[in-house]
Amino acid sequence: MKPIRKAIFPVAGLGTRFLPASKAMPKEMLTIVDRPIIQYVVDEAAEAGIEHFAFVTGRGKSAIEDHFDRQPELEETLASRGKTAELKTLEACLPAAGRTSFTRQQAPLGLGHAVWCARDIVGDEPFALILPDVLVKSSPGCLKQMMDAWRELGGGNLTAVEEVPRDQVSSYGVVGVGHQHGRAFELDGMVEKPKPEDAPSNLIITGRYILEPQIFELLERQEPGAGGEIQVTDAMLKLAEDRPFYGYRFDGTTYDCGSKIGFLAANLAYGLDRPDLGDRLRQEIDALLTPTA
Ligand code: G1P
Repeated sequence: MKPIRKAIFPVAGLGTRFLPASKAMPKEMLTIVDRPIIQYVVDEAAEAGIEHFAFVTGRGKSAIEDHFDRQPELEETLASRGKTAELKTLEACLPAAGRTSFTRQQAPLGLGHAVWCARDIVGDEPFALILPDVLVKSSPGCLKQMMDAWRELGGGNLTAVEEVPRDQVSSYGVVGVGHQHGRAFELDGMVEKPKPEDAPSNLIITGRYILEPQIFELLERQEPGAGGEIQVTDAMLKLAEDRPFYGYRFDGTTYDCGSKIGFLAANLAYGLDRPDLGDRLRQEIDALLTPTA
């Protein structure tokens, strides 16, 4: 069984739901407390043992590449001012040299197409796919939980799932549930953005996947699906015909940072958890929620 060493981060999306904030800045660089969203998912991948971080970007996304590079002027200035804590923070955010790759999607043809664009970077080995819009607050992180389950299952393919109210399933990929293996289960069907009455369950795909490289050949031939886009879910359904494919009920709380409400909730949740900010933030929230006479 080849180990999982690489993760793909699709970051080419325009972020129209965050205009005007995302006009000149990638939505993945919006901050949750004081770190960009993309940093949270890269840290989650690193915790899970990922060694190489492959970003599928687009025009206007170069701030992400700059974020994962050194900034010698800034580092020298911080060093000369004795700001060692800030220097340490920057250091901890930085993957080692040569451990990142950036490729451009060139055209917005869908998530499946974005994943396919990373095929040469990934090569012939299983990999993780992380959608940065979705933050999962948990310890250990969601991908680490999945990697452990994947090893126990003896490999194959795995997607994180969670329950949502039935009336929300049409915004997501939805899975059918087969034979259970603890928190994992064999998938019995998958459908992208179904009508609630057509959905096989209320378990949605949550933006974390472990996939075998055969997915790339299937994506290459994949016809457009929901929304006229090439969907990774459709190719996964085909892969599941020949290869083991599991859903995995992870332990954690999800924040859909692609939506304004999820983004705001994530800022509160992560802020309240911070030793240096939590108490003050709680006071501010209490004050806002206390009716004034
Ligand atoms: C994508 C996937 C979908 C998944 C969702 C999770 O949809 O296609 O299966 O449930 O991410 O956020 P998107 O949000 O890109 O429309």
